[in-house]
Amino acid sequence: MDKTSLPMTVGGTREQKPRTVAASQQTMTYLAAPNDVNLRGNLFGGVILALVDKLAYVCATRHADCPTVTASFDQVDFRAPIEIGEVVTLHASVNYVGRTSMEVGIRVVAEPVTGGEARHTNSCYVTMVAVDEEGRPKPVPGLVLEDEVQLRRYQGAVKRRAVRKGR
Ligand SMILES: CC(C)(COP(=O)(O)OP(=O)(O)OC[C@H]1O[C@@H](n2cnc3c(N)ncnc32)[C@H](O)[C@@H]1OP(=O)(O)O)[C@@H](O)C(=O)NCCC(=O)NCCS
Repeated sequence: MDKTSLPMTVGGTREQKPRTVAASQQTMTYLAAPNDVNLRGNLFGGVILALVDKLAYVCATRHADCPTVTASFDQVDFRAPIEIGEVVTLHASVNYVGRTSMEVGIRVVAEPVTGGEARHTNSCYVTMVAVDEEGRPKPVPGLVLEDEVQLRRYQGAVKRRAVRKGR
């Protein structure tokens, strides 16, 4: 699989029309406020995880066009502290679609509210599963990869899925 085969559809079922990555991409901004920080004035990691979980839910549910649940979080590393008064921006994309599951990649950056250089503080991968009314896994539409970045993220997700299955 290389860039010459773009655009290409991966995963999903034939019964549903495939969707592009762009159709479900999401961005969220959040202000690190006094009730979110520890005694050093840094944003609690749990606040970031809650934001990641919610944005992954919106992104995956947009792609699947039905409710989704969080199946797993991959390892999350906090690369740099986020300070009170900084604006946190989260970017979410569906990287991979299986039959009923989707990997959503989230990139978190922070910058002073008055503007300035944005620092990459976290990246994490969340597996979301589409479910029916009884909470059983439900097939999702395929994912249309349109450019090299999306292809690279998909190929990374394939490797991570193999590692998860191994666990
Ligand atoms: C997620 C859940 C629906 C999966 O149900 P299940 O009966 O184990 O489903 P299956 O074994 O048939 O797997 C369904 C899909 O989920 C994936 N999956 C299941 N458990 C997973 C895990 N721990 N990590 C990553 N993917 C997982 C499978 O790989 C499969 O993907 P595919 O269809 O794309 O190949 C079920 O475990 C569940 O409801 N968990 C609780 C979810 C929850 O409460 N989350 C927190 C609040 S939203």
